[in-house]
Amino acid sequence: MPIHHSPFTIDNLPFFSHFWRFAGSFSVRTKILGIVLALVVLLGVGITVQVRSVLRLALEQRLQEQSTSVARDVAARATDMILINDLFSLHQLLVETQVNNPDVLYAFVTDNNGIILAHTFGPGFPAGLLEANPVASNAHHHTVLLETDEGLVWDTAVPIFEGKAGVARIGLSEKSMRATVAVLTGQMLLTTVLVSAVGIAAATWLTWIVTRPILDLKRAAEAVGRGDFQQSVTPWANDEIGELAQAFNLMTAGLSRAEQERAEREQMRSQLLEKVITAQEEERRRIARELHDETGQSLTSLMVHLQMVNQQCPLPETREQLESVRMLVAQTLENVHNLALELRPSVLDDLGLVAALRRYAHDYQARYPIEVDLEVVGLAERLPPAVETAIYRIIQESLTNIARHAQSTTASVLLEQRHNRIRAIIEDDGVGFDMEKVMGNGRLGLYGMRERAELLNGILTIESEPGQGTSIFVEVPL
Ligand SMILES: Nc1ncnc2c1ncn2[C@@H]1O[C@H](COP(=O)(O)OP(=O)(O)OP(=O)(O)O)[C@@H](O)[C@H]1O
Ligand SMILES: [Mg+2]
Repeated sequence: MPIHHSPFTIDNLPFFSHFWRFAGSFSVRTKILGIVLALVVLLGVGITVQVRSVLRLALEQRLQEQSTSVARDVAARATDMILINDLFSLHQLLVETQVNNPDVLYAFVTDNNGIILAHTFGPGFPAGLLEANPVASNAHHHTVLLETDEGLVWDTAVPIFEGKAGVARIGLSEKSMRATVAVLTGQMLLTTVLVSAVGIAAATWLTWIVTRPILDLKRAAEAVGRGDFQQSVTPWANDEIGELAQAFNLMTAGLSRAEQERAEREQMRSQLLEKVITAQEEERRRIARELHDETGQSLTSLMVHLQMVNQQCPLPETREQLESVRMLVAQTLENVHNLALELRPSVLDDLGLVAALRRYAHDYQARYPIEVDLEVVGLAERLPPAVETAIYRIIQESLTNIARHAQSTTASVLLEQRHNRIRAIIEDDGVGFDMEKVMGNGRLGLYGMRERAELLNGILTIESEPGQGTSIFVEVPL
């Protein structure tokens, strides 16, 4: 089993090919916008999340420390008041503490038996709070995080006089810390949104800068594709795209030059061809006239002389010989006549295309076992000599091809003049041929036909298929 090794490149990985198919389906504008936006959002959100968590940790720790220090302060200042049982001052102290520190949610003091001596709760003391933070009498302090109706609270208990005088309790709310974190998060997200907006504007501007020359190039390249080589694009900058524009301009200049040279060569070729065809026709006409006027006349007078000699000759044997010579001369005259006709029928010059074609068809049917159906529609006047010659030669070559290659017993020729155009269709139902195989085989018949039509700004199309006969269609403007 053969194994095919394709060269290993990154593009061969299925993931990358999927990715490229996906990425390639977006325009450059969308790609740049997407990348900028994704980066800004990723960076903004990432930094926000990180700063938020670091800040929270730091603030939490500070809150905890604050809770401890406030509680210790209250415990220190409350000692004397408890000892002299000055509950009013104790209450004042708690209220003062709360006023000085807005984060303090509550404060209270109990005696060594757990009886509340003073608190900041107003009418009622919340149930269960007392037991929420038990502290050992030999501990410095004890802090717990309580979940209350007012949010999370850092509750610190500090034993007074190693618990012999009682316990001071302080609750510090997390609310303001949370508000700070929320404000900072909001500001950072707002900054992210603003930077995103600036990023989108910058990316749009950048893509416009980058894609404008590329779109110019695309338009110009499409025009070149349509055959307009006069295109040139303005290089906007000295960067890679500018260099591409310059290379493109060089290319179109080269193409334009090549196209011009090609057009000049083509023009020269058709001029040359026209000269060749005209010269050939001239030469044929001259030879045909020579054959007719000189050779034909001589042969005719030779025949007349032979007849006279024949009539005067008394010897029957000689007379017979003279007669056969005369018949030979008559045959030669006929051949010369046919040759002249083939070369250039004087009828074409004297009586025009239709008469010449009728004459040709008549002679053709006499020469080959092929029946020609010649139909002429709407040709009243003489046509320009160049058109008459071209159409005559095209039909002559087509009929000759039918006789030589088609193996057909019938041929039809339709000649029609309509709206200042002359058109001819020559058809047979013979063996046909394959155009692809025949073109470029060095034969000149079909090629010459087309050239003659195109020199007169006409068109010639050949339709043929093996076994399907052949149709030749030619149309020439007048
Ligand atoms: N009516 C036709 N029926 C069948 N085959 C044809 C017909 N006309 C042309 N062909 C095929 O096309 C080929 C090219 O024709 P073309 O007239 O160019 O050359 P040719 O007749 O072979 O030579 P010449 O250059 O002397 O005309 C022929 O050789 C023949 O195979
Ligand atoms: Mg031919």
